[in-house]
Amino acid sequence: MKAKYIIPIVALLAIGSAAFAVDVDGTIAPEEYAFEASYDRGNFRLLWKISGDTLFMAIDSSASGWVSVGFEPTRVMANSDMIFGMIPAEGPAQAVDAWSTGMFGPHPPDTNQGGKDSLLSFAGKRSGGRVVFEFSRLLDTGDKFDKVVPKTGEFKIIWAYGSNLSFTAKHSKAGSATLLMDGRK
Ligand code: HEM
Repeated sequence: MKAKYIIPIVALLAIGSAAFAVDVDGTIAPEEYAFEASYDRGNFRLLWKISGDTLFMAIDSSASGWVSVGFEPTRVMANSDMIFGMIPAEGPAQAVDAWSTGMFGPHPPDTNQGGKDSLLSFAGKRSGGRVVFEFSRLLDTGDKFDKVVPKTGEFKIIWAYGSNLSFTAKHSKAGSATLLMDGRK
């Protein structure tokens, strides 16, 4: 390829990827995520996008406390790979990569069970009675306390939110669902 064509193509690719990048900044921009599911009459929205080998997820909720999504439980909450966001009105956001050892918990952080914290980035914000929590992690982290997230097809999840920020306080609402990761069965 002649050199004069290379620069415009490289520039185009850079613009393209910036337009489709997820910014893990605690706000959800229009078109930022590829897919969305809504539970509890919109009180818990889950959005996701896969870029290469990385999963980006966002929770947008009316919760006054923590928000969480759990991947592939066996029964109720057991053996679910959970990610918690604890976003205060002011001050730093916290996130925990956890694993539920039993049907009704407990769900200690992976790092307390010999695993690792696999979150690559996270951020959160509260405004207008809603909380947004965003995070990213590899689809396959290699940690035994993380489920492998598929790029396509069905993926079983649980969701929950609480009325305070304590990591051990039970949810005010919880439910389970099956995501279609690329929007198709
Ligand atoms: C923070 C500490 C937590 C405690 C103490 C807790 C406790 C419990 C208990 C006792 C139940 C039995 C049913 C009931 O009493 O409502 C239950 C059910 C359930 N939990 Fe949790 N849980 C916790 C966190 C979570 C998280 C983080 C998730 C999801 C990411 C979750 C998802 C569920 C689901 C899907 C059910 C089935 C009940 C339903 O469909 O409403 N829980 N939990």
